[in-house]
Amino acid sequence: MASNKKAQRPQERANGSKNNCLTTWATRLAVLLLFVATCGWLDTIKDRWYVFNPTSLHELAKEAIAVSGPNDTAGMIEHIVTNLTATYPSTQIRINTDSSEWVFNNAGGAMGAMYIIHASITEYLIIFGTPLGTEGHTGLHTADDYFNILVGEQWAFRPGALEMERYPPGSVHFLPRGTAKQYKMHEGCFALEYARGWIPLMLPFGFADTITSTLDIPTFYRTARVTGREMLKNLLIGKI
Ligand SMILES: *[C@@H]1O[C@H](CO)[C@@H](O)[C@H](O)[C@H]1NC(C)=O
Ligand SMILES: *[C@@H]1O[C@H](CO)[C@@H](O)[C@H](O)[C@H]1NC(C)=O
Repeated sequence: MASNKKAQRPQERANGSKNNCLTTWATRLAVLLLFVATCGWLDTIKDRWYVFNPTSLHELAKEAIAVSGPNDTAGMIEHIVTNLTATYPSTQIRINTDSSEWVFNNAGGAMGAMYIIHASITEYLIIFGTPLGTEGHTGLHTADDYFNILVGEQWAFRPGALEMERYPPGSVHFLPRGTAKQYKMHEGCFALEYARGWIPLMLPFGFADTITSTLDIPTFYRTARVTGREMLKNLLIGKI
């Protein structure tokens, strides 16, 4: 009898822990499915948080070129920021008007500098460019990207194409989410870049070259600080 009981106990314990293990995994699976379903649902309603509009930003970029003249990049940037702050109330969206706040941007093998005009969870608007020219991979993003050329030209190419796409000042290079190209700013080029979708998921691409190649920690710090600050200030006024 005694030996029988002794033999049963470890087996009961084993059955108990098997059940526990099953419950744990069932719970994990349920949480995962709930998370995936929530993400899918958020993705269908994300456009309700968009404030900017690609068509009016394109109009604004063309107007900035016309008003400032083709060589006055600083004038264009000033025109754009002035127009945006006059158009959108500060209770609706936060715009960073400090146009001296430039940081290097290394991503996809390309290098330039950017001035972050706006950054939130679902949108960003930046001036990106370099007077030297650069070339690289656009990145594969979770956001639609509208690249409004202000100065210079951007060239682009995707596998299978034998001719390049060419984007002069006043044109928009539209890159839908989930697509990638090789691009080149042949000589100096500056653009107003608008992205809408899930911005935090784009950040790893934005930081990868800095972490694995340039090791420019001050740039990393400044970029993270400005991006975080802008996203937070937008969240505080309810701009997702
Ligand atoms: C801003 O730019 C848009 C597009 O060019 C224009 O329609 C609008 O009138 C401008 N708004 C202001 C306040 O200047
Ligand atoms: C812009 O710069 C180019 C090259 O320096 C020059 O040829 C052109 O005349 C300039 N255009 C204007 C409107 O100043």
